[in-house]
Amino acid sequence: MDSAEILVLQASYTNPVHAEAIGVVLNHYAEDPMGGGQSLAPDLLRRLPEELAKRPHAFSVLAFVGGEPAGLVNCFEGFSTFACKPLVNVHDVAVMTKFRGRGLSHKMLRKVEDIARQRGCCKITLEVLEGNDVAKAAYAKLGFVTGTRDPSQGPMLFWSKYLQA
Ligand SMILES: CC(C)(COP(=O)(O)OP(=O)(O)OC[C@H]1O[C@@H](n2cnc3c(N)ncnc32)[C@H](O)[C@@H]1OP(=O)(O)O)[C@@H](O)C(=O)NCCC(=O)NCCS
Repeated sequence: MDSAEILVLQASYTNPVHAEAIGVVLNHYAEDPMGGGQSLAPDLLRRLPEELAKRPHAFSVLAFVGGEPAGLVNCFEGFSTFACKPLVNVHDVAVMTKFRGRGLSHKMLRKVEDIARQRGCCKITLEVLEGNDVAKAAYAKLGFVTGTRDPSQGPMLFWSKYLQA
């Protein structure tokens, strides 16, 4: 593939092309077995960019290949109390099936790292399913490690409590 065709950029949530691309790639991710295997509601996808735009701690990186939406990383700034510095939590990473294996996740996460550094962040965090070997390999290659700085305590576990409406 000609690398000149690849565009990786920070999304503008108010740009209709970017807003649509976020919906296309996020829904593709939701339909993937690693994303739960179920489509997201069209109304949710339509509202999402404007909701993200209201949140200054949110940012997204998009990849386009030949003008086609190809990849997405959604991020939220958090805060490390121990470091007294901001951090970036990577919330979604997805590449459209036809564009996988071409280095897009690598390029998008490098861009996230640049933005995190510009924001003065002390680290980037993310959650990944234990069985997602492809994603784990991609993250390891970029220097992500599992667990805390004290390996004797075992890996960090991600817990949730779902709040019903
Ligand atoms: C995980 C995902 C984002 C990787 O995106 P990608 O653009 O295809 O990955 P890249 O081409 O940038 O590859 C980066 C590294 O990942 C690993 N990797 C990528 N595809 C792989 C495969 N099919 N098998 C094993 N490792 C693979 C390799 O280590 C690769 O580095 P290398 O090419 O230098 O060897 C993509 O497969 C995807 O969207 N999967 C479904 C959604 C998902 O699982 N998201 C992550 C949620 S935590």
